[in-house]
Amino acid sequence: MRTVSWDDRRGELLLIDQRLLPSEFRIARIRTYRETADAIRTMVVRGAPAIGAAAAFGLALAGFQSKADTLPALLRDLQEAADVLARSRPTAVNLTWALQRMLRVAAGYVGTPDKLRQLLLAEAQRIADEDVAINKRMAEHGAALIDDGDTVIHHCNTGALATVDWGTALGVIRMAHEQGKRIHVLVDETRPRLQGARLTAWELSQYGIPYDIISDNAAGYFLRSGQVQKVFVGADRVARNGDVANKIGTYMLALAAYDNGVPFYPVVPTSTVDLSLQHGARIPIEERDPEEVLALQLRGRPVAPEGASARNPAFDVTPARLVTAIVTEKGIVYPPFDLHLPQVIHHP
Ligand code: MRU
Repeated sequence: MRTVSWDDRRGELLLIDQRLLPSEFRIARIRTYRETADAIRTMVVRGAPAIGAAAAFGLALAGFQSKADTLPALLRDLQEAADVLARSRPTAVNLTWALQRMLRVAAGYVGTPDKLRQLLLAEAQRIADEDVAINKRMAEHGAALIDDGDTVIHHCNTGALATVDWGTALGVIRMAHEQGKRIHVLVDETRPRLQGARLTAWELSQYGIPYDIISDNAAGYFLRSGQVQKVFVGADRVARNGDVANKIGTYMLALAAYDNGVPFYPVVPTSTVDLSLQHGARIPIEERDPEEVLALQLRGRPVAPEGASARNPAFDVTPARLVTAIVTEKGIVYPPFDLHLPQVIHHP
C-alpha cells in the first residue's frame, strides 16, 4: 500500500493516517481539497514528497468539485484551491512545486473542462509514480556511500511514509540492507512529534533492519564516542547554496557530526531543491502549536507545569558548510553546491 494513492472507483484520495501509527493502521479517505489541506496541516500525511503528491491529488479533487462549465471559470476555482493547499504547510517546497506543476497543465490546456479534470488527475498520478521511481534511483546512488557494518544515525522519518513509497534517507538505508550490507540504525526519536520513535522504528521493524531508538540529545554522545560512521537525513527545502531545511534538531546533529568528522548526507529529490533561494535564511520555517511540546506525559501526568509556555519550530536550517554531500536521483552532489546543484538540476 502506498502512503498516498487514489481510489478510482470512488474518486477519493487515500492516505495512511500517520497520526495513529504504530498502534493503528488506518486509511483516511479524502473527498475535497479542503480536507486535503487539513490532512496536510494536521499531519495525517507528512514528509515533503508525500505532501507534494497529496497536494497534487487535492488539486485534482478541486477540479472534480468545481461546478465550472467553462475553462476560465475552472481555472479560477483551481487557483483558489491551490492557494488554500499552498498555505497548509510552509517549509516543504515540494508542496508548491507539485501545485505549480499541476497549474502548468491547466494553464497550457485548450479543450473541454471535463477533459482538463481528467488530465489533472493523470498528472497527480504521474507525480506519485515518479516519486517512487526517483526514490529508488536516489537509494541506489546513496547506498554506495554505506559500507558493510556501518552504524548510521537517522533523524525524523524519511521512509515510505514520508514519500509516496520507498523513501529518501531511509530508502538509502533500506537499499543498502537489501544489497546484503549489515547496517545498524540509531533512530533519533525526533521530539516533539516523535516521527523517529513512532514511524521510522515501525518501518525498520517491517524491513528487518536492526535499530535502536535514541533520545535526540544522545546523538552527540554516540558520534563523539566513535560509534557512528554516517548520518543520513531527508530535507524539506534545500537552497541554491546547499543550506538544508529539515526537521528540527537536524542542525545540532550536523554540528556534532562535523565536529567528529562523521559524514553528513541529506538525501533529496531535485523537487526539494529551491534554486530561487540563494541561501537558507530565506526558507520559511513553520512554527507549530506549542501544545505539541507540552503534550508530553509521564505516568499519565503532564511533564510541564500547568500554564507552561513553549516554542515549537518544526524545522531548522543546516548551513551548507556542515554538509558532506547531497544525494539526489541524478547522482551525488558535492560542494561547492551553488555551482553543482544548478548543474545537476538543469541536466536532463
Ligand atoms: O514535519 P514532518 O514530519 O513533515 O517533517 C518531515 C521531515 O522533516 C523529513 O525529513 C523531510 O520531509 C524529508 S522526508 C522524505
